[in-house]
Amino acid sequence: MAGQPEFRRYLINIDSNSTQQLFTDCLVVGAGIAGLRAAIEAAEHLNVIMVCKGTLDKSNTWKAQGGIASVLNKADTFDSHVADTIKTGCGICDESIVDMVVRQGPELIVQLLSWGAEFDQADGRLATTLEGGHSHARVAHAHGDETGRIIAQALIKKVRQNPNIKIIENLYVVDLLTNDDNRCTGIIGYDAQRAPQIIWAANTILATGGAGRLYRETTNPEVATADGIAMAYRAGAVLQDLEFMQFHPTTLYVAGASRALITETLRGEGAVLLDNKGQRFMKEYHESAELAPRDIVSRAILAQMRKTEATHVYLDVRGFEKEYFSKRFPLINELLESFDIDIGSDLVPVRPSAHYMVGGVKADVSAETSIENLYVCGEVASTGLHGANRLGSNSLLEGLVFGKIAGQSVSKYKQGRASHIKHPMIKYQIPHSDRTRLDAADVRNSLRALMWRNVGITRWDQPLAEAQEIIRFWQRYVMDKIFDSPQGWECQNMLTVCQLMAKSAQQRRESRGVHFRGDFPDIDDKHFKKHIDVSKEK
Ligand code: FUM
Repeated sequence: MAGQPEFRRYLINIDSNSTQQLFTDCLVVGAGIAGLRAAIEAAEHLNVIMVCKGTLDKSNTWKAQGGIASVLNKADTFDSHVADTIKTGCGICDESIVDMVVRQGPELIVQLLSWGAEFDQADGRLATTLEGGHSHARVAHAHGDETGRIIAQALIKKVRQNPNIKIIENLYVVDLLTNDDNRCTGIIGYDAQRAPQIIWAANTILATGGAGRLYRETTNPEVATADGIAMAYRAGAVLQDLEFMQFHPTTLYVAGASRALITETLRGEGAVLLDNKGQRFMKEYHESAELAPRDIVSRAILAQMRKTEATHVYLDVRGFEKEYFSKRFPLINELLESFDIDIGSDLVPVRPSAHYMVGGVKADVSAETSIENLYVCGEVASTGLHGANRLGSNSLLEGLVFGKIAGQSVSKYKQGRASHIKHPMIKYQIPHSDRTRLDAADVRNSLRALMWRNVGITRWDQPLAEAQEIIRFWQRYVMDKIFDSPQGWECQNMLTVCQLMAKSAQQRRESRGVHFRGDFPDIDDKHFKKHIDVSKEK
């Protein structure tokens, strides 16, 4: 098995003798909320290098609109937030993790405020709003719908001020390095000049974010290509629940334009969904109508699109007062204006798209993975918080809490210093392949379309099997090559993760949370009230 190109340990040739090398106590890969928070925590005791594949402003966090969920007013309780999270997670949340994350939220948000994140206020207190699945208004936001940017900027400022943290932007991490004792010893990557770099690290924290770009329709930025999941898989880490991709119900749909998130908060504040005949329809699908959990709203929109033979539905925001709208939702206001959509008179065309990877690299309560010295936090991790479905705005919360935990875990580790690293020389040579070369950009586009069609919002056995067969075909021609740019490595990572997602989705012969099987529409607790783990065959 290991000899087959799709099971190759590393994607590139490695010769540590001729590669530039850096050393650090702690390496953080990724610069969203989880990575930034982890770096700040680890730097209390250790030297930290933080790398990201683009610039610091290219994370999913930066684009987050709705906000961060936490118990922030007297009418709300921890028990209520815990209960909402568990209910949305459909039976497979780790309840002790939910409790721990929910309870740490308020303190960490107050800390963010003290670090300069200007959350919106109302009546002298933090303003909070309602989102689907929440039984209280508990979503805090900043500068209206610019919550992600405001939080990221506060954390980036803190990171930049810290002399123990070195930031390296535009460094593409190709693979995690491991030794024979199942320990992670750092990474190999390429910098912007395409020069290979080895960073040896006593501990590595993966915070590489999501996987929305595996789908043709997505709210995610270009960087979200599941690299972290793929490299952890190659390194031998256990992955969990890859069938659970959350689809966001309302993405702006303008043919030809790139998709953009239209925050759920709009529905929380009164916007309603209309079909192409101008009729509200959500009540026919769920008693909470527009505020039903995301998976239900997404499927209802698709069903209504089918019923009315339309390519999209509409979000009606005409009830908002224009001045309020432009202040409360400045990003969306600007976006809609750029398409000449007048919120006073026009409807906003929307449809669902891939939004959040619920599964990921399996982590315990300390953010530790099945590989020693490798930690994960944020969207790349599967901690058990979300179960089979993520409650809106719980992801920034998870990134904050588990970022801190990962940073604490590496600081506590007895061999947390670079001087303790045992870094053997590495030489890894991939045999030349004469097999036909496919165009990676073309494969990538076709793959994203295939995932949308066959591994999308509603899944069936036969299309899931077909997806795996087609991906296997592409893998034969792509996984045997040695690429020298992110375009190629991303394509290899996407093929790896898509294959595992399709396989897990086929294996889960029931419908639970965000995973909906047209051929098994009911929940099956007897056989599937559990996680689906995958790891590379040794
Ligand atoms: O709709 C939103 O603003 C999305 C929030 C989230 O994914 O948590």
